Amino acid sequence: MLPDNERHHQWVARDEEVVWHGFTQMATFAANSPLVVHRGEGRYVFDTEDRRYLDAISSLWVVTLGHCVPELNDALTRQASRIAHSTLLGNGCDATVLLAEALAEVVPVDRPRFLFASDGASAVEQALKIAYQSWRNRGVTGRTLFAALEGAYHGDTFGALSVGDSGFYSEAFAPLKFPVVRGRNYSDLARVVSENADRLAGVIVEPLVQAAAGMACHESSGLLEVAAACRAASVPLIVDEVATGFGRTGSLFACNEAGVRPDIACLGKAMTGGYLPMSATAVTSSLADTFLGPDLSAQTLYHGHSFSGNALCAAVALRHLDLLSEWNVLANVKERSVQLAEGLDRIARGRPVVSEVRSKGLFAAVELDTAAVGDPLLARKVCSRAVEHGVVLRSIGPAVTTVPMLTSTYDEIDRIVWTIAECIDEVGRG
Ligand SMILES: Cc1ncc(COP(=O)(O)O)c(C=O)c1O
Repeated sequence: MLPDNERHHQWVARDEEVVWHGFTQMATFAANSPLVVHRGEGRYVFDTEDRRYLDAISSLWVVTLGHCVPELNDALTRQASRIAHSTLLGNGCDATVLLAEALAEVVPVDRPRFLFASDGASAVEQALKIAYQSWRNRGVTGRTLFAALEGAYHGDTFGALSVGDSGFYSEAFAPLKFPVVRGRNYSDLARVVSENADRLAGVIVEPLVQAAAGMACHESSGLLEVAAACRAASVPLIVDEVATGFGRTGSLFACNEAGVRPDIACLGKAMTGGYLPMSATAVTSSLADTFLGPDLSAQTLYHGHSFSGNALCAAVALRHLDLLSEWNVLANVKERSVQLAEGLDRIARGRPVVSEVRSKGLFAAVELDTAAVGDPLLARKVCSRAVEHGVVLRSIGPAVTTVPMLTSTYDEIDRIVWTIAECIDEVGRG
């Protein structure tokens, strides 16, 4: 039970007085059982009263190995003792070179060059600008159109918002979004690409899982169709691996599973194991070469962020990449994914309020029939109840979602499944 405890309420009150939480209605912030986290250890976070909660959403899909991992702490402090940050605008930094060399070995992009940033949305903005300007640099004008999926989510800055299709979340900004043609699914998108081949600057997709759409899952064969259509139309394919990258689907990158090698890949979220904000746009050398020209010429990509390639982020990201293979983390993801999918099936059985369960790797959703129950806040209430059981889940519309850490144990997955089932039943009983 969440103790009705004065200190906790004080922290929540102080928080809402000065902090504006993203994607959160601040008028109801306090009513949705918010945690005020003080520290983390492994798969758990601890609040200001040192109560322990299983972080079953990996702090919004970013944490991979755990909170406060000694090896990552060590990489961070060693780099901090050398230098924390040195700009990449016109200069280099050895920590960033080492990371880029290691990433080049594993990303599904041919001879990649990496433009670093801090958030997923920035990696997407960079990808869109690179795709567009590469045409201009080759003397081709008029290609101002992008193609994307229905239900797509690529972040909240304007370019990312434009290629995104997040319903009422982005409705307020509709007049400011640039036009995008959409496919209902991968096959339909392949058709849209062929039909608009002469107008497209690029095509952007989330590979295999549209996580923000409530863990909508897609087949590899469809992604291959999109890639083939892009190749046939000579249009750059941008794959947004911000959510899927670094192991959550059971492959290091979802593209690997489908055997797709895009022209551009966007990386983010789990890049530093959830430690620090780092993202990157990986671009094939053939596309990157279209930007080569005289100094200060218009061929240049005039885009960069202050903390691009930050040395602390780079050192942690490099150690994280090593640990993923040293600890054979992907093998655990595969085993725990099967266990999670079987658990979700058990939740669905005998509970008419569960309309569908979906999962891909360690992305999972239990969709509730909120219309039948007449309560649009049902999934939210289930997640609030889970906090009382010491488990952090997150609702996306009518879906209760969980995105466990890649190092999760059998017992932890079992506990997540049990908690979702129990909370659905408890909320149903009122
Ligand atoms: C596929 C995808 N792209 C981009 C983003 C945006 O990343 P960020 O929140 O780091 O800007 C997200 C965030 O959920 C995402 O799921």
